Amino acid sequence: MISKTIKVFAPATVSNVGPGFDILGFALNKPGDEIILKLSNKKGIRITKITGDKGRIPYEIKQNTATVAILTMLKKLNFSIGLEIQIKKNMGLGSGLGSSAASAVGAVVALNELIGRPFKKEKLMEFALTGEKIASKSVHADNVAPCLLGGFVLIRSYNPIDVIKLKIPVQLFCTIIHPQFEINTSQARKLLKKNIPFKDAITQWGNVAGLVTGLLANDLELVSRSLNDVIVEPIRAKLIPGFYEIKESAMNAGSIGCSISGSGPSIFAFSKSHEEASRIGSAMKKSASKQISKTRMYISEINKTGASIID
Ligand code: HSE
Repeated sequence: MISKTIKVFAPATVSNVGPGFDILGFALNKPGDEIILKLSNKKGIRITKITGDKGRIPYEIKQNTATVAILTMLKKLNFSIGLEIQIKKNMGLGSGLGSSAASAVGAVVALNELIGRPFKKEKLMEFALTGEKIASKSVHADNVAPCLLGGFVLIRSYNPIDVIKLKIPVQLFCTIIHPQFEINTSQARKLLKKNIPFKDAITQWGNVAGLVTGLLANDLELVSRSLNDVIVEPIRAKLIPGFYEIKESAMNAGSIGCSISGSGPSIFAFSKSHEEASRIGSAMKKSASKQISKTRMYISEINKTGASIID
């Protein structure tokens, strides 16, 4: 009986990061999912346990983000193998924190380790993306890429995929307020306009370039000026009761910049220290409580490593 087991931590991620819809994302140290993968002498792939999802995630392997990613990777290798998988969700579904990406990334990182690392980490992205597609009905890499690689990631191009890890010198702290309700990513994408005014595009790409430059140059004043989304945030803000009040409370409490995390409802706010991050979090929570009955708060630095083996 083979009993090799690998346990992986896959971090939550903040995608879009203000103006960078579908092209920017970063990883957090917490929360994150855990994936446990075990070699089995019984052929086929089985999900043996899922916790933290309130019974919502499918056990059917062709419907589950983690196993779809695994199946794509095994197909590429032309491998047939017996596997048992356990998924421990520590972040809410539909939270805007890259929950489905974390499961898919965790699964392929675990499989790669289990079978002797046939692929470099970067290569695992294409497999994880097939899992993400099952969940969100679209191929966007701004959660998968930072979850896999850690740090701040820019998706320069989708066709062909060109992912750039931004080496940021800055010490950034991130406050997350997670209102306890769900937003379905594919529905939140359908709300977006197919065409945008040229002047909004100019504002947006100026801000994206400013944000990236500010991060690389450790110019937090520039990061602050640039963290402004004129295309997506105004539409999705309507999905989060009191969003602009919560954002204002973060900015008044000293945040460098604040916006919706992914498709929401989580909201992120940057700051320079843990102390500031908790002060900002308290202000945001207080403001949110006027319209949202329950929120959860996380404070984290930027995760530098991405998904990692923990056992
Ligand atoms: N960039 C994607 C979106 C991320 O905003 O739709 C979803 O998590």
